[in-house]
Amino acid sequence: MPLAGSTSASSSVPQPTTAANRWWADPVESGSAAGFGVYLHVPFCHHRCGYCDFATDAVGDRDDNEALFARYVSALRVDLGRQVAAGRRALAPTDGRDRTDDAWPTVTSIFLGGGTPTLLPPQLCAAVVRSVFDELDVAADAEVTVECNPETAGEALFAALVDVGVTRISMGAQSFTPSVLATLERRHTRERPVEAVRQARAAGIGGINLDLIFGTPGETDDDWRDTLTSVLAAGTDHVSAYALTIHDSTPFGRAIGRGVMRHPDDDVQADRFAIAREVLGGGGFEHYEVSNWALGSGNRSRHNVLYWRHGDYLAVGVGAHGHLAGRRWWSTRSTSRYLDAVESGRSPVAGSEELDLDQRAHERLLLGLRLREGLHPADAPPPDPMALEDAMDAGLVTTACGRLQCTEDGWFLLDEAVSRLLP
Ligand SMILES: C[S@@+](CC[C@H](N)C(=O)[O-])C[C@H]1O[C@@H](n2cnc3c(N)ncnc32)[C@H](O)[C@@H]1O
Ligand code: SF4
Repeated sequence: MPLAGSTSASSSVPQPTTAANRWWADPVESGSAAGFGVYLHVPFCHHRCGYCDFATDAVGDRDDNEALFARYVSALRVDLGRQVAAGRRALAPTDGRDRTDDAWPTVTSIFLGGGTPTLLPPQLCAAVVRSVFDELDVAADAEVTVECNPETAGEALFAALVDVGVTRISMGAQSFTPSVLATLERRHTRERPVEAVRQARAAGIGGINLDLIFGTPGETDDDWRDTLTSVLAAGTDHVSAYALTIHDSTPFGRAIGRGVMRHPDDDVQADRFAIAREVLGGGGFEHYEVSNWALGSGNRSRHNVLYWRHGDYLAVGVGAHGHLAGRRWWSTRSTSRYLDAVESGRSPVAGSEELDLDQRAHERLLLGLRLREGLHPADAPPPDPMALEDAMDAGLVTTACGRLQCTEDGWFLLDEAVSRLLP
């Protein structure tokens, strides 16, 4: 199935590696060297939390949900199958900078995200994961993650997921303060994520992440400390902690616009971030990315590291975004349009873009500098010495063993750091 702006004759013309594109053509740990992922999206949620602007449909407890879920999972499988059958070149850039091979690389990570994938019955959720193993070669040590909501993930689901090769779950706990959970419109108690972590471990899930949000209106520093210490006691090996982001189109955004909710204060958010670093660091967690902590490097999220290393990944499902060698594409955010397109043999892709070499350099830096380890010297264009000195003098970046890394301040001024490096 042809995708918008895809194959052309030029894609089969190999381009020589020159000094200017060596970092792109022969990466050491970024781009195609970072692995190959598959992201699949399930857009359904029981209801939409007031802060969330992800591609989700609030489906409540409607009678026809079961039929809708089965229909959607069939469409996901068809969509993946068609993308795989079309071959790699159908998705690669048309500028000839990419390698010309049509075969798919071995999959190193799979991420089933949402929405709420665990709103699907366990067997359907497992069937989505299995479809990737059916269609592509998956590495024996691949990381296979499913995003779970605490109130819809339990023993039966974890057992079904382990059976199909799931190695990791990522669960939205958000907070352990009941009043904050209520403000966030969460449907689970403070106890439920801890119980779910125990059940997942008992079922044999090796990797467990909890997502947290800080700076919710009404949350205090003590609430946040209590949330973090509760996470340490829960026995997870990974934590993602996000500052509450206000999106204008959400109920939170509108409430702030009407003056009935307070916008999170920047200084308070900076303090909460510092508390997260102190408490999680004290618990042995490595702060390896702006918003992510892992109990040792073996527990980092390989799928997310693939994103930050500007790697390649397929995108399957409503609102999903894919990337291959500097070309990006995304599917429609409308579930009905997605189903109509796939079921009638059309592509659900709503848009795509190809980055030129300068844009790729910009993106490589912007993503790579999010990682504490920064970028391998061979994986980014050699910085102009004056620009590098300027960014270092401004306290935004540093170098260690040749690697370009952000400083603590630079992590919060990434756009400025990159624009100084690539003026
Ligand atoms: C794609 S969401 C799905 C997670 C899952 N459905 C759940 O709610 O448990 C992944 C994570 O993004 C974070 N998130 C979503 N909206 C956010 C916002 N406006 N500000 C900060 N974090 C947000 C939450 O921590 C959430 O767990
Ligand atoms: S359950 Fe998760 S994906 Fe759904 S609306 Fe809430 S935060 Fe967003």
